Amino acid sequence: MEYILSPSILSADFNKLGEDVKHVEQSGAQWLHIDVMDGSFVPNISFGFPVIKALRKITGMFFDVHLMIVDPGKYIDEFVAAGADMITVHAEACTHLDRVIQQIKSHGVKAGVALNPGTPLSQLDYVLEEVDMVLIMTVNPGYGGQSYIPYCDRKIKELRELIDAKGLNVDIQVDGGIKADNVAHVKECGANVFVAGSAVFDGNIEDNAAALLKNMSE
Ligand code: DX5
Ligand code: ZN
Repeated sequence: MEYILSPSILSADFNKLGEDVKHVEQSGAQWLHIDVMDGSFVPNISFGFPVIKALRKITGMFFDVHLMIVDPGKYIDEFVAAGADMITVHAEACTHLDRVIQQIKSHGVKAGVALNPGTPLSQLDYVLEEVDMVLIMTVNPGYGGQSYIPYCDRKIKELRELIDAKGLNVDIQVDGGIKADNVAHVKECGANVFVAGSAVFDGNIEDNAAALLKNMSE
């Protein structure tokens, strides 16, 4: 299985976003996690197309775009045009989840579905075979710097069992409260793509990413 670190630029210094992303690129992290928030699905507003387009010009990193917006199907084409390599939508935000997944895949980019902490795995029952990744939110989405919710352990374990039982090649991403001191534990539960915001950007980016990458590989 491939283990991937995806630093979330939500915790970057927006005064020097390009520079921070260059540090991430040099750190050995494989993906870049891009959190889009609309102030409606979540109680916070982050950034949108212009920022993603600007970053696309300075890096070839894999753009892992996490949409925390209502009715994301309306904007898939534009996120692809802005440079997304993967688009993850929240099951709670889609009236027609299957349609949105197919719309993402029709562009040849990867499709992910995210579940809030309180949303059961049964939401994925019929679409699991259709997606490249499931994002298990390990905090309530909206802000960086929150603490990992312990009951998510069981959710990650149950999802890993489900994916393995079906023989699927679906990544499990965890997002929220992932730090150097708990990344090995969530990996043990069954996750293989780790989002980290504050744990990467608070302090020295290369050193922080190195600590996470080291503990992920143990
Ligand atoms: C939260 C976002 C996360 C956030 C994680 O709603 O989806 O990606 O940046 O931040 P940390 O790693 O600081 O919990
Ligand atoms: Zn995120």
